[in-house]
Amino acid sequence: MKNTFIFIAFVLFVLGFLYSISGSRAPRIPEDKLHKIIDTTVTCIECHSATGETPRGEKHPPKDQCLECHKVKRNRKVD
Ligand code: HEC
Ligand code: HEC
Repeated sequence: MKNTFIFIAFVLFVLGFLYSISGSRAPRIPEDKLHKIIDTTVTCIECHSATGETPRGEKHPPKDQCLECHKVKRNRKVD
């Protein structure tokens, strides 16, 4: 029985660790006029492509699934 609890604690620890190294390091999408309207990757690229007005930095991960890493604030208001 004791081993079961140790196992559960271990699983929770691993999940927490994986969460901590996952996309949460990426900056949140700002909560401003520019970003309020958007929810598809296509719109992100209009401004954040290499030739857009606010390109991503050189060290930026190459993948284009923006919302996999960049989250909006949880209680974001949509009007
Ligand atoms: C209309 C142009 C525009 C669009 C579309 C746009 N952005 Fe932005 N984004 C900006 C500008 C300008 C800034 C910097 C100023 C600011 O904070 O708004 C910025 C800043 C950011 C930042 C913060 C960078 C930092 O250093 O903290 C992230 C993350 C971001 N954008 C992600 C996204 C994602 C993901 C999308 C698509 C859902 C998107 N943006 C769509 C113009 C845009
Ligand atoms: C694999 C995860 C991941 C994906 C996918 C991703 N980003 Fe990022 N993004 C990051 C991380 C991590 C940073 C912080 C980079 C740094 O500090 O050097 C970042 C930073 C940024 C910034 C701030 C400027 C910069 O480069 O430091 C913008 C703007 C941004 N991302 C936009 C986007 C857009 C638009 C997309 C989709 C085309 C996208 N990101 C997809 C992880 C990701």
